[in-house]
Amino acid sequence: MFPLPTEHGAALVTGASSGLGLAIAKSLARRGYNVLLTARRADRLEALAVELETDYAVRALVVPCDLSDRSAPDQLAQAAEDHSLDINVLVNNAGLGSTGLFQQSEIALQLAIVRVKVEAAVALTGRFLPAMLQRERGAILNVSSTTGFQPLANNATYAAANAFLLSFTEGLHTDLAGTGVSATALCPGPVKTELWNESGGTAAAIAAGLPDVLWMTPYEVAEAGVEGLRAGKRVVIPGTLNRLGAIGGQHAPRSLLLRLTAAITAAADS
Ligand SMILES: NC(=O)c1ccc[n+]([C@@H]2O[C@H](COP(=O)([O-])OP(=O)(O)OC[C@H]3O[C@@H](n4cnc5c(N)ncnc54)[C@H](OP(=O)(O)O)[C@@H]3O)[C@@H](O)[C@H]2O)c1
Repeated sequence: MFPLPTEHGAALVTGASSGLGLAIAKSLARRGYNVLLTARRADRLEALAVELETDYAVRALVVPCDLSDRSAPDQLAQAAEDHSLDINVLVNNAGLGSTGLFQQSEIALQLAIVRVKVEAAVALTGRFLPAMLQRERGAILNVSSTTGFQPLANNATYAAANAFLLSFTEGLHTDLAGTGVSATALCPGPVKTELWNESGGTAAAIAAGLPDVLWMTPYEVAEAGVEGLRAGKRVVIPGTLNRLGAIGGQHAPRSLLLRLTAAITAAADS
């Protein structure tokens, strides 16, 4: 069951320094939830914390950390304990991307994608789930993507990381049936955030070529995600076109899809 806001309950939001994580943190704070905000850029987290405490009269704790560091889940759990906060909502949102041929990219970047989107999400779930189960109340939102419904050429690691997160969350959702804790995968299509500038390669050119109708704002996606989480949904895909795209991604022949995505990125490159 979705936890109600309480004095000591809090939502931990990863990647809260920008984009979707920032919007999800605001959406939860507006509903009265205390928040524990994490990402690497402390200045941005501090500014958001001040805004949320002022606007919504909630507690907003900032714990900067690098989620590719394996000690991050323990650091976050210790900070929550030190401030008497029970994490009853966990939002695994942090992520980074890269575009281009795998063989031409830095292996360190590819590994960071896996560590932040996959390993940290599993580790944080493992760290905070036992207490949620004990309280028989909690909710976990894992931010995947419509890229998780099929492999992508020129984006192999990012799409695979999202596929992992989607599959993991669907299995977990079912494992948790009847426990009072739920798990939801949020799978947005294109969202206007810094990710598109940071992903290098052809990302900016692909973004420039996408029609306006495909784009959603971080706030639209955050609302859909939080409402889906509250309703205990297994998967939330905001936007009709994205839902159709996800169906296509699951059922269209892989050889065709892969040729198509390779052609799109090649065209963006030229
Ligand atoms: N934008 C889209 O079109 C889109 C579509 C579908 C899914 N998504 C997913 O949505 C999630 C949020 O992305 P966004 O679009 O909001 O991009 P964004 O604005 O670039 O936000 C990414 C967040 O992840 C944090 N992060 C990155 N590496 C980190 C690390 N090593 N340790 C801790 N935090 C780290 C960043 O914070 P710091 O840099 O301060 O650490 C930032 O807060 C990602 O998982 C992404 O895959 C995005």
